[in-house]
Amino acid sequence: MKEMWNSRYGELQFAYGTEPNVFFKEQIDALPVGKILLPSEGEGRNAVYAASLGWDVVAFDFSAEGKQKALQLAESQGVTIRYFVSDAAEFDIDETFDVVALIYAHLPPSVRKAFNAKIPKFLKPNGLLIAEVFSPNQILNNRPSGGPKDVSMVYDIDLFKTEFPTLKVLIAEELTVELSEGLYHNGLGDVVRFVGQKV
Ligand SMILES: C[S@@+](CC[C@H](N)C(=O)[O-])C[C@H]1O[C@@H](n2cnc3c(N)ncnc32)[C@H](O)[C@@H]1O
Repeated sequence: MKEMWNSRYGELQFAYGTEPNVFFKEQIDALPVGKILLPSEGEGRNAVYAASLGWDVVAFDFSAEGKQKALQLAESQGVTIRYFVSDAAEFDIDETFDVVALIYAHLPPSVRKAFNAKIPKFLKPNGLLIAEVFSPNQILNNRPSGGPKDVSMVYDIDLFKTEFPTLKVLIAEELTVELSEGLYHNGLGDVVRFVGQKV
């Protein structure tokens, strides 16, 4: 799997573009600047956007090619991010964040469950988990707009509630959106958007 991502990110173009995800941007634009963790952040479009607003950004991904593209993007925008090459199965950090953002961070269930269980620990009191991910309908509708083909790797609303039982739910919606994100997320997409707060 890692080889697939390294090969995708080894291409010249940015797989998901250089602009932030629309829902992520909407949410971040409405918050005071703080400190953010972006797991599975790939080529860094969301990390670099947050840094351009003044956020203190930590990102990670298991793809070294993703890191290289993200640092290239950060340099081109004149911003700094901290970016670790790490598998979510092993990632840990002794810091806390105002926001953790899971943007299309689709992981195998065993890795996902263990990592998600650590997210509340990464959040400051009142900190937010912001997520946009593909829902099972993306697979059922056979959408060509991206995402895993394995239903165990997508999210429905109940899965968020089950895996983040301690977070207060602020937004939990499943909807169909028009995606226009680089080479690989284009056209109608069935997604779940979730915002939960550590109380
Ligand atoms: C669809 S991309 C999303 C990238 C980025 N968040 C964005 O929105 O542009 C999914 C990312 O998950 C990463 N990933 C998959 N499995 C991982 C794992 N076990 N640990 C860390 N990253 C992983 C991939 O390398 C890839 O960058």
